[in-house]
Amino acid sequence: MSAPDVSLLEPDRLESARDAALAALAATGALDELPAVRTAHLGDRSPIALARRAIGGLPGPEKAEAGKRLNVVLQVVQAAYDERRTELEADRDVRVLAEETVDVTALPGRLPVGARHPLTTIQERAVDVFVAMGWELAEGPEVEHEWFNFDALNFGKDHPAREMQDTLFLGPEDSGLVMRTHTSPVQVRSLLTRDLPVYVVVPGRVYRADALDATHSPVFAQLEGLAVDEGITMAHLRGTLDAFASAMFGEGLKTRLRPSYFPFTEPSAELDLQCFACRGASAEPGGEPCRVCSSEGWIEVGGCGMVNPAVLRAAGVDPERYSGFAFGMGLDRAVMFRHGVTDIRDLYEGDQRFTLPFGTEG
Ligand code: DAH
Repeated sequence: MSAPDVSLLEPDRLESARDAALAALAATGALDELPAVRTAHLGDRSPIALARRAIGGLPGPEKAEAGKRLNVVLQVVQAAYDERRTELEADRDVRVLAEETVDVTALPGRLPVGARHPLTTIQERAVDVFVAMGWELAEGPEVEHEWFNFDALNFGKDHPAREMQDTLFLGPEDSGLVMRTHTSPVQVRSLLTRDLPVYVVVPGRVYRADALDATHSPVFAQLEGLAVDEGITMAHLRGTLDAFASAMFGEGLKTRLRPSYFPFTEPSAELDLQCFACRGASAEPGGEPCRVCSSEGWIEVGGCGMVNPAVLRAAGVDPERYSGFAFGMGLDRAVMFRHGVTDIRDLYEGDQRFTLPFGTEG
């Protein structure tokens, strides 16, 4: 180790070390610059620290003198340092208080209001039409037991709808659970849980093992209706469907039934709605072509019929006393026609860019 430099203890050397420290402290403008200034002027390798180490190299009588001088300088510098730190901390506190002020009287920014999904809107409008006729809203689970989805609805054990390629079965293999393939199981649930007569309308999502493309989606929306009362006839079914078509799509819009087959209705029919774009005119001789119905004049919307007595029996209802009608229709195509949506995937991908333009229409 080199010999201590005792000249550091000379009064003018100490004074210049002090003055340099005071000048540096005075020039320090921010709290985060302070540690470096401290290291330079009070740290282990600062002139003041080196001078302190040099004291041992002085002859005895001079030690006390030099020690006193050094202590005075040290105290002055340390005090200046403490004072500067206090000032800078105060500056910072004032600045932070000003910067972080919260104006509790300020008006909040506009909250993004989002948009209603057009499927939700059409479901609500459809349900409203039935509620206005005195019907009730019913709902059921999307994960459904096979018994409700098939057996109670009179599907035979080997009905093709039970095949894997149509139905999404849920594991484990013997769980008996499927993703409901239609809203019809809610017919049975409603009859089992409600007092007769029953008039229910059931909107909901349903699932099929369909590949996804522009016109097919493994999830889609249906609207189911069920009326079970004494003396219900097919005339009630027709009248109800006509009233619904007029209320939803315009006064006088007609419905058409074509013979069909469903296990849970007898007789059964396909339900067609007069095209709400051309109102059937495109199918008349000389009519303008219509893209909505491909100039058919009619649009297939679903199925309907008189509730099969086997379904009533499965739900504990006496078919000798009660009869009923039911219908089920898809809502996706109605939304797509109405809003010019050409790809069904847009309805299910949850992309806000699709829904936002619909705003909050009620
Ligand atoms: N559940 C049938 C389907 O998804 C539609 C249907 C047809 C529902 C006739 C009914 C009905 O209530 O009576 O294809």
